[in-house]
Amino acid sequence: MEKRTLIIGAGGVGNVVAHKVAQNAAEFGEIMLASRNENKCKAIATDVKNSTGVVIKTAKVDADNVQEVVALLKEFKPQVLINVALPYQDLPLMDACLHAGVHYVDTANYEPPNHAKFEYSWQWAYRERFEKAGLCALLGSGFDPGVTNVYCAYAQKHLFDEIETVDILDANAGDHGYPFATNFNPEINIREITQRGRYWEEGEWKETGPLEVRREYDFPVIGEKSAYLMYHEELESLCQNIKGLKRIRFFMTFSDKYLTHLNVLQNVGMTRIDPIEFQGQKIVPIQFLKAILPDPASLGPRTKGKTCIGCEITGTKDGKKRKVFIYNVCDHQECYREVKSQAISYTTGVPAMLGAMMLQNGKWLKPGVWNMEQNDPDPFMEKLNTCGLPWQVIELPVD
Ligand SMILES: NC(=O)c1ccc[n+]([C@@H]2O[C@H](COP(=O)([O-])OP(=O)(O)OC[C@H]3O[C@@H](n4cnc5c(N)ncnc54)[C@H](OP(=O)(O)O)[C@@H]3O)[C@@H](O)[C@H]2O)c1
Repeated sequence: MEKRTLIIGAGGVGNVVAHKVAQNAAEFGEIMLASRNENKCKAIATDVKNSTGVVIKTAKVDADNVQEVVALLKEFKPQVLINVALPYQDLPLMDACLHAGVHYVDTANYEPPNHAKFEYSWQWAYRERFEKAGLCALLGSGFDPGVTNVYCAYAQKHLFDEIETVDILDANAGDHGYPFATNFNPEINIREITQRGRYWEEGEWKETGPLEVRREYDFPVIGEKSAYLMYHEELESLCQNIKGLKRIRFFMTFSDKYLTHLNVLQNVGMTRIDPIEFQGQKIVPIQFLKAILPDPASLGPRTKGKTCIGCEITGTKDGKKRKVFIYNVCDHQECYREVKSQAISYTTGVPAMLGAMMLQNGKWLKPGVWNMEQNDPDPFMEKLNTCGLPWQVIELPVD
């Protein structure tokens, strides 16, 4: 059967996915990029053609409109849909895949637009429907969630007999030169960061104030950074799927300058997600803020420095305590040179492409709705090394 792959969403991540899918066109067949603004798709298609020689089709689609997406799927007939629009579109796109008989991949779990809350329950509720339809939905195939889940599965398979604790550590030591900007969609990013912190320990969820818990961490290559405990969606599936786990937490680094700006924006009400009346019309402050902040896609040429994201894992192996850090370091400017995007979009787009590759090549193709760690980590880990996100494991002293 002739392969075809549809990408929906033409933002920072969509741009990287389009480039990486085209670089691996033999695995993906014919490629289409669709979004609500087709001109953005066409601009990306031109860049992809110039850098890889591969021609990708484009289309206009409203991903919130199930019928419109179904019509596009029936016309283009892809085996796999890669959803790199926004988390709000996850459910309509899963519905459309069920109607049209298409496998589904995304990078972020569903979030209702009017309630800043993300969890897997809405998407896990599709398990039976995907199973019955013989279709596969792969959830959270970005970096975190995504690669971090696969790191844990790899550690469980190869490095430990039993894992006790996981700390996921996400550091961005890049500098774009603006006083304040977010590296991916500002609305999604700020909604995530301003939530209360949450982690899982001994079978229970524990809450903290937003960014209340701080940990200094000496990252490989980029050095010492302050990292703050946040709730992050991969905790929800990993605490169920990593056997014997006692505690799992997620930390992200922020500079003092970033946190000061965020505090002010929050204190003055600019991060509110409820509509307010302004000069005779309703506006949502965080959406207005998004409109005046730098477009994340425009940060690429300006951003210098590196990211380091990894999992610090403790446990036992052959009766001895062990502690390792599995990680990737990614350079913003190298990413820009390759695909005209900074490292945040790059580190999300490469795994989104790889998740779809695992479905197209059959290695992870099984009916149902799956989180990344529920698959054999080996083929994915192997491809990370050759597709732009090489990883390392370092042994750390056991406390
Ligand atoms: N797992 C991870 O590690 C990770 C990390 C970063 C981001 N992410 C996720 O990656 C996804 C994309 O992020 P991004 O930074 O690329 O965001 P972005 O730059 O805002 O791009 C989103 C794209 O989706 C399009 N879109 C939005 N609503 C649509 C609709 N109803 N119909 C069709 N297209 C629609 C947007 O269209 P317009 O161009 O018209 O606005 C835009 O092209 C998000 O879900 C984000 O949460 C995951």
